[in-house]
Amino acid sequence: MSHTVESPGSATVPASVPPSPLRTASWARIRELFALDPTTVHLNTGTVGAMPYEVLDTVDRVTRQWTGGLLDVYRPAMFTEYRAFIGRTFGVDEDEIVICHNATEGVARVIHGLDLRAGDEVVTTTHECYSVLSNFNLLRNRHGIVMRTVTPPSGHDVRAEEIIDLVESAITPRTKVLSFAAITLFTGTMFPVRQLCELAHRHGLTTVIDGALIPGMLDVNLRDYGADFITCSGSKFQCGPLGTGLIYVRNKVVPESNPLPLPTFWPLISTWYPMMGSPPPRTTNEVASYNMGDYLQSAGSANLARGAALTRAFELWDDIGRDRIERYVMDLAEYARGRLIEAFGEKAMYSPGVDPRLRSPLIAFNPFRRPEDAWNIKKFITFVKRLETEHRIWTRWTEFDVPGSPHQHYAARITTHLFNTRDEIDHSVRTMVRLAEEMS
Ligand SMILES: Cc1ncc(COP(=O)(O)O)c(C=O)c1O
Repeated sequence: MSHTVESPGSATVPASVPPSPLRTASWARIRELFALDPTTVHLNTGTVGAMPYEVLDTVDRVTRQWTGGLLDVYRPAMFTEYRAFIGRTFGVDEDEIVICHNATEGVARVIHGLDLRAGDEVVTTTHECYSVLSNFNLLRNRHGIVMRTVTPPSGHDVRAEEIIDLVESAITPRTKVLSFAAITLFTGTMFPVRQLCELAHRHGLTTVIDGALIPGMLDVNLRDYGADFITCSGSKFQCGPLGTGLIYVRNKVVPESNPLPLPTFWPLISTWYPMMGSPPPRTTNEVASYNMGDYLQSAGSANLARGAALTRAFELWDDIGRDRIERYVMDLAEYARGRLIEAFGEKAMYSPGVDPRLRSPLIAFNPFRRPEDAWNIKKFITFVKRLETEHRIWTRWTEFDVPGSPHQHYAARITTHLFNTRDEIDHSVRTMVRLAEEMS
């Protein structure tokens, strides 16, 4: 990295430095780090988080450093140190991490880089983000692949085995790819990622995981999931700048995590891919034969502040403690789930609650008394809008298929994060109860 650009702190921090005071700071103190509007309640991190002031400052500072100088913008745009730093947080190497523009771009670059031909089948679910389904559908229209989509069960009582059995039932001898979200955005279901990847290994499938909601929420080792590709957002739970995302691309064979050979992959949008001839064959062991991360990262000039600011957000999370953040976020979600069930009943819940493996901090529910209101889109739009404009509570509504239902269902969705509090949940649930009554 050029001497004029800041590098991730811990790359230069000696091992003897004591842990950051943030490691034991109160959640009230941690909340002060964020550029939150004190008059609003932000329960929509599943869409976009709130940036810490330090991240905002980094965007500004690094943008200024690179303005009007005579600096080489191409080499730093490889984000080598930032990728190494972020990779370490997730237990993977620099050659397996790419800083891209968002989850949508990341997954599109993966899907269109797969070596799929007419008749090849992709197993996925109807609960995937539009960014996933539209790109596979484009491949269907363009190349004649076949999409086999299943509709996952929703509701308080769903168990992980139901999801695994359903996915398995869609796999045929022509299936080449299994794709699903680690945490779904519509019902907030935490998919059993490792078990589904093991299922994929048994059937020789390439796995494409939409992990948009993983960074900043879960303290995980990405390699341990056993997937081939995981695409992430940097601006949701990780609270980096808008326009940041990550691609994890498996670039070596570590049999304990995934024993399958590396899939053929075409790195789209690359100025590193050879201009003549072919790259070396992909490795069959734990030593990479080339840096696939560089192939994808090298994509012309870049906004250099993005890499620095996203890395600053990662450093802050490491200082606070990712394990601690995950626990807080999940505990607060359980508190919120309890309050929502008290207020609206178990039957109103679309998110899993009984099986702890499937719970996430995204909770979707029907706040209206009449079950048929669940397919009244106008009510949901109005409910979310009124929460926002009259009560300054920011949520969202979602729409999704429900097995056996002729209609799409709609739900209100809240998300808990490290800057939210129990008081905010109490206040929001009380407000939602009143508003739903008024609208019933
Ligand atoms: C699970 C999931 N995947 C993908 C996306 C797309 O993210 P982005 O619009 O930031 O690219 C979202 C957005 O909410 C999401 O929740």
